[in-house]
Parts: sequence; C-alpha cells; structure tokens
Amino acid sequence: MLKDSVQEALNEQVKHEFYSAHVYLAMCAWFEDQGLPGFASWMRMQYQEELGHGIRIFDFINDRDGKVIIEGVDAPPTSWDSPLAAFEAAYENEKAVSKSIDDLYDLAGKENDHATRVMLQWFITEQVEEEASTKQAVDRLKLAGNDSSALLVLDQQLGSRTSAE
Ligand code: FEO
Repeated sequence: MLKDSVQEALNEQVKHEFYSAHVYLAMCAWFEDQGLPGFASWMRMQYQEELGHGIRIFDFINDRDGKVIIEGVDAPPTSWDSPLAAFEAAYENEKAVSKSIDDLYDLAGKENDHATRVMLQWFITEQVEEEASTKQAVDRLKLAGNDSSALLVLDQQLGSRTSAE
C-alpha cells in the first residue's frame, strides 16, 4: 500500500513523463517542418520512450494498490530558434526529470517505502543515459555550427536510431 505522499509524487512523475513526451512530439513536428527527418525520427522515438516511462510508473501505482490520477499536461512549446536550441531544451528537460526522480527517491526513503525505491533505481540509471544522449547531440550540434553539410550528416546519424530505448 502506498502512502499518500508517495502516491501523490508518483502521480506527479507520471505527469512529468507525459509532459516530456509531448515536448518531444512537438520537437518531432518542428524538425519535420525544418526538413530534418533524422532529428524528427529521433524525437519520435524519444516521445515513445517517455510514454513508456509514464506507463511504467502508472503500472507500479496500480500494482501497489494505489490510485492513478491522470491530469492534463501543459502545452509544450511549438518552435525553437535552431536545432541546437531544441536539443539544449531537451537536455535541460532531462536534467529536470533527473532531479524530480532523485527527489522522489529521497521521499520514498523518508517514508521507508523500499519497493518504490527499488522501482526508481531503474529510472535513476535510465536518466544517466537520457542526459548523456541529449548532451551528446548538443555537443555535436555545437561542433557543426553553421555548417549545413555537418548538420545533414548529424541528421542522418540521429535518424539511424532504431528503438525507443
Ligand atoms: Fe523519462 Fe527522458 O525522462
């Protein structure tokens, strides 16, 4: 049985994951519009991955006989100044998610909720990868600068991502 404080924070995290999903779907649409299908494809997979994260917590709340509350999420931005600006926003979003997971882990510890802490360990590991992949894209886009040939190479590279993991 979940304590109310943990249940509330888990529901908040579900919302955070679904908001992230919407941000990446909005970025997918923006990259499509920019004529960069590889970046768009990467963002589409990231969207699916975030949905999976939300559902993972959704299932956990149900498994613990808790109550899932689905709330509306804020509308994401619809455009960015550049591919670099979009990935910088993605990286900032991932850092915010990591902080949120860490806070949740601390709360579960305070409440002696061992099952929630074990479940969250998967997310803590996942966030290392999430931050690394968005930061890598930021670094590569900085190296590409205003070179459109380099941008197209990056678009191809990110477009080769084959799974939402
Ligand atoms: Fe589910 Fe990218 O954090």
